[in-house]
Amino acid sequence: MGFLKDQVAIVTGGARGLGRGIALALADEGASVVIADLLADKGSETAAEIAARGVGAASHAVDVTRCDQVEGVVADTVKTFGRLDILINNAGNTTHPAWCWDMSERDWLSVIDTHVNGTFYGLKAAARVMKERRYGRIVNLSSIAAVHGFCSQMNYAAAKFAVIGMTLTAAKELGPYGITVNAMQPGVIRSDMTAILLNAGEEKYAKGTPVQRVGEPADVANVVKFFVNPASDFITGVVMRVDGGIALKLGADDDITAYADVYPG
Ligand SMILES: NC(=O)c1ccc[n+]([C@@H]2O[C@H](COP(=O)([O-])OP(=O)(O)OC[C@H]3O[C@@H](n4cnc5c(N)ncnc54)[C@H](O)[C@@H]3O)[C@@H](O)[C@H]2O)c1
Repeated sequence: MGFLKDQVAIVTGGARGLGRGIALALADEGASVVIADLLADKGSETAAEIAARGVGAASHAVDVTRCDQVEGVVADTVKTFGRLDILINNAGNTTHPAWCWDMSERDWLSVIDTHVNGTFYGLKAAARVMKERRYGRIVNLSSIAAVHGFCSQMNYAAAKFAVIGMTLTAAKELGPYGITVNAMQPGVIRSDMTAILLNAGEEKYAKGTPVQRVGEPADVANVVKFFVNPASDFITGVVMRVDGGIALKLGADDDITAYADVYPG
């Protein structure tokens, strides 16, 4: 067993994509992992993959925009597994691309609700439990959209900047209790969320990235493993890009990740 033996983690949005990759990586290090995702069937499939690694596993149908459901999965996890060491606030969504003057209120609120409120509810519920044991590792998923902004996805950029604000604040508030809080800013990583971009021209994103490839969920999971390591107790309030260097090339005139050229109209 690895360095997370006997530890317990919750991964929101862990049914597929980056969250699934993170969940399996934590299980490989010996953690029991609880998936909290809207997608109950996919969540159960991922939980079965986790259990096959010989650790505890569970899947809960959870909408992170519902505070009661997030508090419920934290309470169930502590009841079932006796503790909570790690929370990965990963659940996320996007809406159809639109310039800000065309973005509907519904699309704006949907993305803000998932990323901002979802992350806050997770932080709040986990902090209460982790404070008792004076130990915890929380990792929040921001994005390189929160480096230079993100054309056609203002809701997403705003939400991912907010995640950084919560990360820095929580790092200060929770540090005295042995709880570290860090954030990651993935670049273009292969998942359902980016499928439409990559199907339209993976080569473009690979060429636009200094390391000449798009990211894989394992690239993100590797950084999560660093942040949640018990030995990383002096690392908190860090916002780390995991992007193959693509953010170095992004700017006002070089927003190669804008969806606008992929989606017609
Ligand atoms: N893929 C990328 O290139 C990339 C880049 C930067 C940041 N991110 C962030 O990484 C995280 C994971 O993204 P992904 O690419 O794996 O996306 P994905 O769409 O493949 O997976 C997201 C998961 O979150 C779940 N989810 C969505 N809304 C939810 C809600 N309200 N409650 C519970 N679960 C919910 C979905 O069901 C899904 O399983 C997101 O926060 C995303 O913004 C992804």
